[in-house]
Amino acid sequence: MSITYTYIGHGTHQFAIGDQTILVDPYIDENPATDLTADEMTPDCIIVTHGHGDHLGDTIPIARRTGCKVIANYEIINWLQAQGLDGNQLHPQHIGGGFDHGFAYVKLTIAHHGSSLPDGSYGGNPAGVLIETDESRIYVAGDTGLFLEMEYYGRNGIDLFVVPIGDNFTMGPGDALEAIRMVRPRLAVPSHYNTWPPIEQDADAWAEQVAAEVPGVEVCVLDPGDDLTV
Ligand code: NI
Ligand code: MN
Repeated sequence: MSITYTYIGHGTHQFAIGDQTILVDPYIDENPATDLTADEMTPDCIIVTHGHGDHLGDTIPIARRTGCKVIANYEIINWLQAQGLDGNQLHPQHIGGGFDHGFAYVKLTIAHHGSSLPDGSYGGNPAGVLIETDESRIYVAGDTGLFLEMEYYGRNGIDLFVVPIGDNFTMGPGDALEAIRMVRPRLAVPSHYNTWPPIEQDADAWAEQVAAEVPGVEVCVLDPGDDLTV
């Protein structure tokens, strides 16, 4: 089953798998990169990588309105339940743990970052996400610095690697190139850049550098709203 990936913008990603729509980090209304509104999002599932406002985003209003499933680490799930979301829609996982959610096997990965929630609550360790179907493996690195275990996540083959290149808060272009060397994906999409001045980057220049230095990896620089099929 093919997967359609849409770059909503910044660190927000949408996947259509069969008749299921999965939103990773639904930062919509305040996201400078998109004109979409949280009101028009109708996911079947939200995955939250960490508690920062540009990732937790509009999780609560979207989940409350749609009743969709929410996957996150245990600490964020507990916090979401305390904010009034229905425990039946909440699915806690943690780093290294995967679960077959029907549309895909979803595993949380290491991410080196922070994860405080908007009210200052502890959000546990931040995460990335592996999404695996019978045909495709997708690795969304999330907000993270570079780490050597990325090589392991790439060992079984990654069809699509969504990688931050913004620098300052996450990997910059140089470390993202090293991440590409380790993960060796078929396709790579840069994210988490150009949203604000501290993370301005030339993604096209980065794509050219990857093409020159890591043959076999295709970089797709997407504008917010663009999609591709894996
Ligand atoms: Ni963050
Ligand atoms: Mn972020």
